[in-house]
Amino acid sequence: MSINILAIESSCDDTSASVISDGKILSNLVAGQKVHEAYGGVVPELASRAHQANILPVVDMALKQAGMALTDLSAIAFTQSPGLIGSLMVGCSFAKSLAQSLNIPLIGVHHMQAHVLAHFIDKPKPVFPFLCLTVSGGHTQIVLMRNYFEFEIIGKTLDDAAGEAFDKAAKILELPYPGGPLIDKYAQGGNKHAFEFAKPDIPELNFSFSGLKTSFLYFIRERIKTNPDFINENMADICASMQEAIIYHLMKKLVKASKQTGIKQIALAGGVSANTGLRKAIDIEGQKLGWQTFVPAFEYCTDNAAMIAITAHYKYLNAEFESLDVSPSAR
Ligand code: KG4
Ligand code: ZN
Repeated sequence: MSINILAIESSCDDTSASVISDGKILSNLVAGQKVHEAYGGVVPELASRAHQANILPVVDMALKQAGMALTDLSAIAFTQSPGLIGSLMVGCSFAKSLAQSLNIPLIGVHHMQAHVLAHFIDKPKPVFPFLCLTVSGGHTQIVLMRNYFEFEIIGKTLDDAAGEAFDKAAKILELPYPGGPLIDKYAQGGNKHAFEFAKPDIPELNFSFSGLKTSFLYFIRERIKTNPDFINENMADICASMQEAIIYHLMKKLVKASKQTGIKQIALAGGVSANTGLRKAIDIEGQKLGWQTFVPAFEYCTDNAAMIAITAHYKYLNAEFESLDVSPSAR
């Protein structure tokens, strides 16, 4: 008998469903939510409502694409934490009722663990122990992975996440939300040494991005005073320089973590791992330092249900199931 799992991800503003069979992803559908663009950030109440509207068609399409009927499923998985509570609730309730009606196990998945385990979807796969720089809109961590379920967070941000730094810089530049991908796009045509911003100096393996954001804000304000068109005239150079400052800080700590632990299996995960500059930086640094580097395919960088599905697959093998009274948790 095959292990067929339907996984649902609804932690933030993407409704996603994926079907995995014996550890192989058969479908991975993501419905984004354009409704937040006008607000410069995710509006939680609107996100919950959009999840409610999207979840049934997305699940239906994921099953159809996988050629799977509900009765073929061995378990239902969902993102249990962390995320927006209303958004998590939609996925959790849906998964619970489906598991109950089909009388099959329910699997709760931690979103950040799933970002890391996304590396086990495709080959080549990292070998334990490995280090994973997990950079998303809400988290920035260096995780030491000992096996699928045992890990240690050896560094983390003390304030903003790397994705937040991208998004807040984009907001200052009056770019729509989420700004990370747009900064990436403009940066590709710019000079990363054009402007200098405050370099964070944080102890140990921790990160901080709030000083950088403030330095960026003051820089833009000053320049606009003398030239109201400064942003438009220098968009590519501004984006390239800000992106470089964020990458510099991330890479410095990642190199330090590798030297401290002696681990040279290095992975990148989370939405910001889609960033072209960061992917290039880890590649270049990796060649210099003899790392074996692992960067997920673009579709598995930002939020997706395939990463929930692969994590659920390992949990299924471990018989780690939830009871039907499980509730989601924001943190
Ligand atoms: O992992 P993710 O999809 O959602 C969370 O769990 O937070 O990450 C979203 C974050 C956003 O801050 C977004 O701006 C950033 O990832 N992001 C990027 C890129 N693509 C997504 N940041 C920089 N460059 C990109 N190409
Ligand atoms: Zn995420």
